[in-house]
Amino acid sequence: MARGDAAWAPLRIGAVVVDPPTVLAPLAGVTVPPFRRLCRELGAGMVCSEMVSANALAYQNPKTALMLHVCDDEHPVSVQILAPTPEVAEPAAEAAVEAGADVVDINMGCPVPKVIRCGAGVALMRDLPRARAVMEAAVRGVAGRAPVTVKIRAGWDPRSRCFAEIARQAEDAGLSGIVLHARYGCQGYSGHADWSMIADLRQQTSLPVVGNGDVRGASDAARMLRETGCDGVMVGRGAMGYPWVFRELRAAARSEAVPEPAGPGERIGALLRLGREMVDFYGEYRGLRELRGFVCWFTRGMPSSAALRAEALQLTSFEDLRGLLLRYGESWAVRDAEE
Ligand SMILES: Cc1cc2nc3c(=O)[nH]c(=O)nc-3n(C[C@H](O)[C@H](O)[C@H](O)COP(=O)(O)O)c2cc1C
Repeated sequence: MARGDAAWAPLRIGAVVVDPPTVLAPLAGVTVPPFRRLCRELGAGMVCSEMVSANALAYQNPKTALMLHVCDDEHPVSVQILAPTPEVAEPAAEAAVEAGADVVDINMGCPVPKVIRCGAGVALMRDLPRARAVMEAAVRGVAGRAPVTVKIRAGWDPRSRCFAEIARQAEDAGLSGIVLHARYGCQGYSGHADWSMIADLRQQTSLPVVGNGDVRGASDAARMLRETGCDGVMVGRGAMGYPWVFRELRAAARSEAVPEPAGPGERIGALLRLGREMVDFYGEYRGLRELRGFVCWFTRGMPSSAALRAEALQLTSFEDLRGLLLRYGESWAVRDAEE
């Protein structure tokens, strides 16, 4: 890959090379296999699964087991586990590797009350001995077959800021990377991410650091890499409705001109394909439900799209949805790639 700027050098997590150094964030309800494949094709260097509950895996919940699924053509992929204790972290990490994960990530950033109540997510950052035990257990679980990373916040709140301490523990426990979402847990998603904390972490650890928070396009990503010295950038909400962000980031990494934004025809074409893959993966009923969010996000701002969404969300058969999307996309010459 031609490269003019050292800031865009490939990210290395253990033996896994992430090139370009851009990662699709773990997003519950969003980063399911068909969407991850689309992001990889559009240029993401690595993709992450949604968080997978280690407790639910321990109860052999079949819906949770399906969340571990990794497709052959989406590597490298990181599978994220949500584990409150070392007892469930170890078998969950093992199961993730057996399912084909290239990287196993530990969630220490989720601030959702239900998750905190069970002692997982960002709750671990308020109990450092347990956080360490969970990291050590995940390393035992993978048994050298994949690197382990941890995705953290800066701490629960400014008074309990502890990202540097967690990074030291991560090094001692044998982890291979750390992702910092540069907000405090108590902030949820409000306010701006404070990238100076990513720069601070970069100074304080020898592990590769992936910066996360408020990257929406190539200029944000370039600025984060330059200002913080981080080794990779992770994009979440910016990719939900616009996975083409990864095409822009890939062009920036190659010092190429930023490509034209994806137009309506390309967006509708991608929805058709995503719909077909969702239905293949989950079956028609669940597949169409999983697609709903994407229908809304991908069509936002397009002409007469409110009526399209209202109609699309009523449909219960993929053939009907396909017909609707093809009729809507006619003026942009949208074709179904499967025809
Ligand atoms: C809908 C949604 C679901 C999320 N699910 C997860 C998750 O499963 N695991 C996780 O570590 N973070 C999760 N996050 C947080 C994102 O991974 C990311 O850290 C956050 O959105 C900040 O990055 P952004 O500004 O690029 O969106 C979620 C965020 C959103 C908006």
